[in-house]
Amino acid sequence: MMLLGQRADPSGVFSDPLMANQCLLQLWGAHYEVTGLLGSWMVQIDRHPSVRLRLRQELDSELRGPIDSLGLGDLRRLPYLDATIAETLRTLPPSSTVTRRLTRPVVLNGMLLKQGWKLIAEPRLVHGWERNYPDPGRFDPERFLAAPSEDRRYAFIPFGGGVHACLGAQLAMTIARVFAVHLLRSHRWQGLDAPRFDQFPLRMLKPDYRIGLIPAEA
Ligand code: HEM
Repeated sequence: MMLLGQRADPSGVFSDPLMANQCLLQLWGAHYEVTGLLGSWMVQIDRHPSVRLRLRQELDSELRGPIDSLGLGDLRRLPYLDATIAETLRTLPPSSTVTRRLTRPVVLNGMLLKQGWKLIAEPRLVHGWERNYPDPGRFDPERFLAAPSEDRRYAFIPFGGGVHACLGAQLAMTIARVFAVHLLRSHRWQGLDAPRFDQFPLRMLKPDYRIGLIPAEA
């Protein structure tokens, strides 16, 4: 798309540096952000045995047959799994900030925000507000089982929002679902240390965190 845009308008917004930057960002996103999400999901499931049990029950009732025969359609029948991934993205969002520079002045809640100002939306703050999520510190996938309401659209922003929302969000969710199904079917796991997180530039488990994997049939 960007290459087509550049061909149509070589001096337009899709310059070579911008495209190089986008490619680097995609590599970064595909690697660090997804890894951060998967590690945090494992920590949350390890901490909450009742959630793990319910995940196993959902898998057993919805996914029959060998794992290699499952397709993308099968993954869509796992609302509770999706809810655990969403609740992980809420409680431990890998991305720290979503930034915008104002191209024109805006009045927001009676306050004038001037052209050129930089605005930062911070998922860690928004996701922790009591008015959005009662008892916000509690890991509770149930919150994501109800249909999302339109007026709360920006209460959940792990992938940002608007025209510059994450382009890889659906890919990241699919990778997380595939990873989770394989792992839940094949292994149990247990953290061997208290989890510690790096906070910037992304929130993710420190690299020395150890997880014990036990084959499911053991
Ligand atoms: C759990 C995984 C991921 C998380 C939490 C995440 C989060 C984010 C966030 C917060 C933004 C900024 C959005 C905004 O400013 O509104 C972003 C942008 C972006 N992400 Fe991701 N991301 C993830 C995975 C990926 C993957 C796998 C790819 C590509 C394969 C990707 C590609 C991009 C791109 C290209 C942008 C820039 C979009 C633009 O500026 O128009 N991301 N991501």
